[in-house]
Amino acid sequence: MSRFILGVTGASGAIYAARTLWHLQRLGHSVSLIFTEMGKSVAEFEGQIEKFKSANCVLDVHNLFADCASGSSDFSGMAVVPCSMGTLGKMANGIADNLLVRAADVCLKERRPLVVVPREMPFNLIHLQNMEKLSLAGASIVAASPSFYRKPTTIEELVDSVVAKILSQLHLPNEIVSDWEKVR
Ligand SMILES: Cc1cc2nc3c(=O)[nH]c(=O)nc-3n(C[C@H](O)[C@H](O)[C@H](O)COP(=O)(O)O)c2cc1C
Repeated sequence: MSRFILGVTGASGAIYAARTLWHLQRLGHSVSLIFTEMGKSVAEFEGQIEKFKSANCVLDVHNLFADCASGSSDFSGMAVVPCSMGTLGKMANGIADNLLVRAADVCLKERRPLVVVPREMPFNLIHLQNMEKLSLAGASIVAASPSFYRKPTTIEELVDSVVAKILSQLHLPNEIVSDWEKVR
């Protein structure tokens, strides 16, 4: 069992985070959750908040004394799902003024997997440049861009096509990863 951090920001798409939490726990991993203030509000607004009750731990975004703020903590990686353009900008520029951004900063400096799932449309140049910076620093940018080639029939199946990529970038083998071999 590994420990992962799941950061949830105020971008639309809390269901992506809820399904990521569900799959990580199904695979036997422990998940420490960090909501930004807007992350919690949007998850409530989108009717997803109840799904986060199973988290192993919920960390206060303002508590920079939490262990994941330090490189000596033993987390295996982190996903920021969905990632707002505001938090993306902070992460890309090292503005570690809350626990979510600090934990992401720690993942980058310790060379642990950091998976960022930006959600915005359309992107402006600043968003794209921030994604470039994060990618160059070692993060994986996984677009909230579901695939249709497995012919999903529910929103959960559609969302899981993105979650499969998140798990894959966290170096977790999982059977929801779809490849062309399975659909041909
Ligand atoms: C219903 C709702 C949906 C939003 N969706 C997005 C979004 O998809 N992407 C984004 O970057 N911001 C979105 N926002 C705006 C962010 O919540 C806002 O920029 C906030 O300051 C982000 O803060 P955070 O990064 O600390 O969570 C949304 C706001 C609301 C109220």
